[in-house]
Amino acid sequence: MKISIRQITEKDVCYLYDSLFDKNIRGFSLNQQKVSYESHCEYWKKRLSNNQNKDYIIVCDGSRNVGCVRIDPDGQISIAVDKEFQGKGFGSIALDLAIKESKLKEYSSKILSKNTTSKKLFKKLGFKKQYEVYTLSKINST
Ligand SMILES: CC(C)(COP(=O)(O)OP(=O)(O)OC[C@H]1O[C@@H](n2cnc3c(N)ncnc32)[C@H](O)[C@@H]1OP(=O)(O)O)[C@@H](O)C(=O)NCCC(=O)NCCS
Repeated sequence: MKISIRQITEKDVCYLYDSLFDKNIRGFSLNQQKVSYESHCEYWKKRLSNNQNKDYIIVCDGSRNVGCVRIDPDGQISIAVDKEFQGKGFGSIALDLAIKESKLKEYSSKILSKNTTSKKLFKKLGFKKQYEVYTLSKINST
């Protein structure tokens, strides 16, 4: 199977919502909040209007969408591969392609410590651990 990447367009917004809010992927997201389809569309409309964002759909054999890579202007990366296509090396190939294509100076990614697959993926491509964040929260009941 041949993996390639192409730029995300407004036509992909529906695919991104359906597949990437899948619980298998959302569970590893730093933002666990539910997002309505309307705010998802608003987010992408704004995001796509800034050409400093480097956002790609991961494509299998020229036509099948299997995931996406988002890269912010500061090099912050977020990647997801659809559940049925995970563990086949697609994420590694796509991340490598996205880095080559986006040509930024520096890249980073924030990953939950439980996300061993993602840590493996980034380390494989030469990323080194910087620091760990311990997040605390408190609900104010008054
Ligand atoms: C993280 C993710 C993008 C990786 O994509 P992928 O296509 O499954 O990754 P690959 O198949 O290229 O594998 C990358 C490495 O992880 C390992 N790996 C893959 N699936 C694994 C699993 N279920 N358990 C443990 N390791 C696994 C692979 O062995 C590989 O390492 P290796 O080459 O040293 O063997 C994908 O699993 C995913 O979308 N996860 C949910 C969303 C997410 O966590 N995103 C990252 C936040 S930035």
